[in-house]
Amino acid sequence: MEFAKGEDVSVSKVGVVGSGLMGAGIAEVCLRAGLDVVVSEVNSTAADAGRARITKSIDRAVSKGKMAEDERDAVLGRLRMTTDLGEFADRDLVIEAVAEHEQTKVDVFATLDKVVTRPDAIFASNTSSIPIMKLGMATQRPEQVIGIHFFNPVPVLKLVELVTSLLTGEETSRRAEEFAANVLGKQVIRSQDRAGFIVNALLIPYLLSAIRMLESGFASADDIDNGMVLGCAHPMGPLRLADLIGLDTTKAIAESLYAEFKEALYSPPPLLLRMVDAGLLGKKSGRGFYDYS
Ligand code: CAA
Repeated sequence: MEFAKGEDVSVSKVGVVGSGLMGAGIAEVCLRAGLDVVVSEVNSTAADAGRARITKSIDRAVSKGKMAEDERDAVLGRLRMTTDLGEFADRDLVIEAVAEHEQTKVDVFATLDKVVTRPDAIFASNTSSIPIMKLGMATQRPEQVIGIHFFNPVPVLKLVELVTSLLTGEETSRRAEEFAANVLGKQVIRSQDRAGFIVNALLIPYLLSAIRMLESGFASADDIDNGMVLGCAHPMGPLRLADLIGLDTTKAIAESLYAEFKEALYSPPPLLLRMVDAGLLGKKSGRGFYDYS
């Protein structure tokens, strides 16, 4: 879609689909940037949990003196939770942040295309690894579909990967970059539409290598993590980081990378598969490579 000169196409109304670890973080940074934010969830229990997650993180900012009490109320006043994607009709930008599962994301994009009435709306995905082209083709407006990939914890980490598909329009790309850089204050890097983009194509083989090292009895979890924290000055070791990302998400990203490149370094090791089968998903479930209870 082309825009007339001088037309106001700035983003002020945002929709976020999903309020898990990433969705809640994305909603928080949008709220703190002064935007009007609607967040959708699959049911009211999940919506309540999402609101609680966002509120807890904002309360943490208040208790650390990073936000004033009255600003807290104004920020939370701009948040609306819903279980109806129909409430996204007037959104300028929708950011999808549901589980890393291709069909689920495709279904979300097909629905958004039907319900969002703004002709110039941007449809973004926070996917870590699923090709943006597949999401674009679920809509009638692939030129308005783009990847805006955040990093966890979203309020802390400065990076956003911007991923354009073969059909993403220049105007969509320009507005998405303007939004991420100038509205949210993130540092933007650009990647081609290849599974894993830049960061996960590098990060996931490293995390899988650490899991293989543990699985083979080569070294203990603490020693592997201490090796990278104390020897390479990483803020956390690979096993603790996999726990933070979520082992289900780590597995899903590895599977997307493996499906795309068919290279053994992306193949999820059996220990990771069994831990996900067991519901040991890392920090969010209370136990992964470490115990968080
Ligand atoms: N929300 C908001 N702020 C948070 C936070 C959260 N969830 N977690 C930590 N912080 C803030 C703290 O308030 C603190 O702020 P101040 O310094 O202003 O007080 C600061 O971050 C440091 O936190 P802590 O002192 O509690 O702990 P730390 O120094 O050990 O840092 C960490 C914690 C920020 C998580 C740090 O260990 C880190 O950056 N780890 C690496 C995380 C990483 O690599 N993430 C990328 C994962 S990959 C991804 O997300 C994308 C994907 O597709 C899989």
